[in-house]
Amino acid sequence: MKALVLSGGSGTRLRPFTHSMPKQLIPIANKPILQHVLENISALGVTEVGIVVGVWEQQITESLGDGSALGLRITYLPQDAPRGLAHAVVIARDFLGDDDFVMYLGDNVLPDGVAEIAEEFGRARPAAQVVVHKVSDPRSFGVVELGPAGEVLRLVEKPAEPRSDLALIGVYFFTAAIHEAVNAIEPSARGELEITDAIQWLVTHGGDVRAGEYDGYWKDAGCVEDVLDCNHKLLDGLRGSLAGEVDEESVLTGEVVVEAGARVVGSWIEGPVVIAAGTVVESAHLGPYTAIGRDCLIRHTHLDESIVFDGATVSSVGRLRGSMIGRSAIVVATGDDSRAEARI
Ligand code: G1P
Repeated sequence: MKALVLSGGSGTRLRPFTHSMPKQLIPIANKPILQHVLENISALGVTEVGIVVGVWEQQITESLGDGSALGLRITYLPQDAPRGLAHAVVIARDFLGDDDFVMYLGDNVLPDGVAEIAEEFGRARPAAQVVVHKVSDPRSFGVVELGPAGEVLRLVEKPAEPRSDLALIGVYFFTAAIHEAVNAIEPSARGELEITDAIQWLVTHGGDVRAGEYDGYWKDAGCVEDVLDCNHKLLDGLRGSLAGEVDEESVLTGEVVVEAGARVVGSWIEGPVVIAAGTVVESAHLGPYTAIGRDCLIRHTHLDESIVFDGATVSSVGRLRGSMIGRSAIVVATGDDSRAEARI
């Protein structure tokens, strides 16, 4: 089986971060979302991965390279504009050949993985197997209706009146039967070739389409609140390790990772917290649920439930909670902490 990962798209709900980086590279628990995705794919035993990229191709290739660090072989597949998930399958035709593949949206976070559903697909080899998840408000997702034997009867993209609570999440298993379907459909009202329409085409033409239910934690990391929620969830599983320097005045409680080359001086760190290489934390109070990227400077500050991207400085700012501090941002107080003004 191969994998097709979708990493085009503009991430408008994550501006201003996505003015200068793709949302798939936003760090969650100090790893880009895309790396979490690729680790899940690797856990399925898949090594051949095609990544569909748009305007952020260069940053994505710089971050992941040829994939060998993750035990993968990555082929980058440029898409000229976001023309829909089914269009990504069209442009990946040569890469995919006639192999089965898992299509995975590069901004979806599923810490529990999809190994069981992949096995089911591998055993039964239906034309397609979609991954669904029960949600309270399915109106902003593709929605699936199932028959009595769990077969897919109907798929509707973002229905105003959903007929089930089963949302399509961003993982789909396909056999080569999907290629005829993506070529047969027309663009939707939003001008995109919808994968939902292609799968519906398979159903209508007698294809065996099944659903596998994922009941773990799931987020389509589309906005700041969702990214912070994912960070909280993934840090919950953190195991502490101290490879960097921690001075005697510092107090660490709970699970704390201080990577080699990071320095903690006179600070109170309440885990779960991860501090990446090259970062200095001085006279600060961090955590819980905080992830500090590489080469940051954090001083005279209290930060919790937050993400600090690589290269940022946060200094003498009273308390920040539930914040995302962008790459290389400088947040410093200009006067008394209680009247601190942030300069970014
Ligand atoms: C896409 C799919 C939709 C699915 C969602 C999951 O929507 O079209 O069926 O439920 O991903 O994240 P989009 O994010 O393109 O609006």
